Amino acid sequence: MVIARSGARFLSSAASTRAALWRASLSGIWWESRNSRAAEGPGTIAAILIETVVGTAGVLVPPPGYLAGVRALCDKYGIVWIADEVMCGFGRTGAWFAFEHYQAIPDLITFAKGSNSGYVPVGGVIISDPIAATFDQRVFPGGLTYSGHPLACASIVATIDAMKDEDIIGNARRIGSQVLGPGLRELAERHPVVGEVRGTAVFWALDLVSDRASRAMLAPSILGTSAGPPRSSGQSLKPPLSTFSSSQRPRAWSSGNRSQPPSARKVPMEARG
Ligand SMILES: Cc1ncc(COP(=O)(O)O)c(C=O)c1O
Repeated sequence: MVIARSGARFLSSAASTRAALWRASLSGIWWESRNSRAAEGPGTIAAILIETVVGTAGVLVPPPGYLAGVRALCDKYGIVWIADEVMCGFGRTGAWFAFEHYQAIPDLITFAKGSNSGYVPVGGVIISDPIAATFDQRVFPGGLTYSGHPLACASIVATIDAMKDEDIIGNARRIGSQVLGPGLRELAERHPVVGEVRGTAVFWALDLVSDRASRAMLAPSILGTSAGPPRSSGQSLKPPLSTFSSSQRPRAWSSGNRSQPPSARKVPMEARG
């Protein structure tokens, strides 16, 4: 999504555009895309907002160098890079933030449900030092009815503490590399209907296809239900970060200092997405 300088005009948000951008060479990148040409040049663009790992559109993990390229272009043209980490942040990709995997640091980071497992409604923006400093001498002209609500903030602090105590991020990473990844790839080997397996940690998707070579999606008549055709041929898997298999118990539980699994305790960790 590209945000025009003249206001919050969204020039492009379609998943297809994002996919096309990823395919574009980093040197040509988005000025060449149909929607971005309408922006009449980089000087008109205030910010670019992208999910670090795209979620609902199919768990699209960026290729090596892509986000570093976005960073370089934003630096070159004075554009703010906003990373949407609502879905991929707070451990879902096996790191506190997904961008940490890519050696590129955004200017603003949006977050929400992952930060407190959705126990109470909450969302926020993490602001880089240079941008925060612009408000040292002037008032930040923003706010919401419930900005900084103590209950919401306390739920984030408690969740982060529990995630650290139970090594939830490490667990998500291990479940992905040792259980989910191998298991899904094995499914793909056994079933030609699985066109592609993508993902990391506890953030995965399968493309269901009628033909692997052409990647044609499985016909709606096969995928559809009585409620109508499916929204996509991708099937996503986003289990709780505390998911474990019998051979993959979370460290805190298996270490013996707790009598029950995390899911049975007072504060179950279920980062929803
Ligand atoms: C990736 C992503 N960004 C943004 C949002 C919107 O977040 P909110 O409903 O907190 O505004 C969602 C909601 O599911 C999301 O998944």
